[in-house]
Amino acid sequence: MKALILKSFGGPESFELRDVPKPVPHAGQVLVRVHATAINPLDFQVRRGDYSDLVPLPAITGHDVSGVVEAVGPGVTSFVPGDEVWYTPQIFDGPGSYAEYHVAAEGIIGKKPPTLSHLEAASLTLVGGTAWEALVVRAALSVGESILVHGGAGGVGHVAIQLAKAMGARVFTTVREANLEFARSLGADVVIDYEKEDYVDVILRETGGHGVDVVFDTIGGNTLSRSPDALAQLGRVVSIVDIAQPQNLLQAWGKNASYHFVFTRQNRGKLDELSTLVARGQLRPHVGAVYSLADIPLAHALLESPNKDLRGKIAIAVEPQAHLVSAKG
Ligand SMILES: NC(=O)c1ccc[n+]([C@@H]2O[C@H](COP(=O)([O-])OP(=O)(O)OC[C@H]3O[C@@H](n4cnc5c(N)ncnc54)[C@H](OP(=O)(O)O)[C@@H]3O)[C@@H](O)[C@H]2O)c1
Repeated sequence: MKALILKSFGGPESFELRDVPKPVPHAGQVLVRVHATAINPLDFQVRRGDYSDLVPLPAITGHDVSGVVEAVGPGVTSFVPGDEVWYTPQIFDGPGSYAEYHVAAEGIIGKKPPTLSHLEAASLTLVGGTAWEALVVRAALSVGESILVHGGAGGVGHVAIQLAKAMGARVFTTVREANLEFARSLGADVVIDYEKEDYVDVILRETGGHGVDVVFDTIGGNTLSRSPDALAQLGRVVSIVDIAQPQNLLQAWGKNASYHFVFTRQNRGKLDELSTLVARGQLRPHVGAVYSLADIPLAHALLESPNKDLRGKIAIAVEPQAHLVSAKG
C-alpha cells in the first residue's frame, strides 16, 4: 500500500510517499481501507518533533480516518467487511492514518454518519471528539448558558460553535474579519473580530457586565490568563492547548472559576453522539480545502501559515471518490 512516511523531524519536506506492506488485523482489530483523512495542528507538531519521545521514526502519522472495513480479526463482532466507519487512531500508539490502509481496535471505531462524505467524516473525528469532551463532559454546558469559543473559524472552533448551539447556549466567538460571515453561518450569536475589538470588552458589554459561563480556549497564550476577565461568577474555563509558559491565574480566585484541561481521548461513544447531531442537521463539518495523500506536505504548510485563507478543516482524499456521500445517505 501507499503511505506517507515521516523520515525525520523537521519541515513539510520530511515526508516521503512509499510502498509499504499492508497491515494485517489481529484479534479484536479491524482493517480499514482509508478513503479520507484530515490535518490537525497535532500533525505538524508531531512532524516538527514536539513529541519526539513518543514517536519512533520512521513513522506513519495522521489522526483521522473515514473509510470502509476491508477485513476483521478474530473476535470482532461490531463490524463486517463493507461497513463505512470513522475514528481517530490511538494517538502516540502505532501507525496513523496517512496511508491507504489502517488497522485499529474495534472499540475506538464508529459507524460513519451516512449523510457525510468521507472527506467530511474524516474532518470531524478528532476535532468533534475534542469539542464534545470539552463542552459536554468537562464544561457541562447547559441550556440558556453562554460560552465564548475562541478561534471560531478553526477546526475545533467551527465544530464547537455548532455543538454549543445544539446544547442551547448563547455563543460568542472570536475570528478574523475575513471569517465573520462564516462564524455567523455556523450559528454564533455574537462574532468578535479579534484583530479590531477586545473580546473582554465586547462580552462585558453584551452581558451587562455579567460575563460568560464558559470560556473554551483553543488558542493558548494569554487566552487562559485573561479568561477570568470575561467569565461570570462560578464560570468554567476549558483549554485544549499546551501551556508553554507559567500563567498567573490570580483573577480566577475572584470568579470562583473552575479550570479544565483536555487532551482528547478516543472512544466510540463520542462518535455515536456526534453522529446523532449530524443526523438531526445540527452539526456538519466544513471542509475548507482538499489535498491528495502525496500533497500532505502542502496541506501542512497551509495549516501552519498565519492569516491563511481557510475556514474549517483541510481534508485529504486518499481514495479519489472520497468526496461522494454514500448511497446509504
Ligand atoms: N488537547 C486536545 O485534545 C486538542 C485537540 C485538538 C486541537 N488541539 C489544539 O487546539 C488548537 C486549535 O486546533 P484547531 O484544529 O482548531 O486549529 P486550526 O484549525 O488551525 O484553528 C485555529 C484557529 O484559530 C484562529 N486564531 C489564531 N489566533 C487567534 C486569536 N488570537 N484569536 C482567535 N482566533 C485565533 C485561526 O485563524 P486565523 O489565524 O486565520 O485567524 C484558526 O481559525 C491547536 O493548538 C491544537 O493543537 C488540542
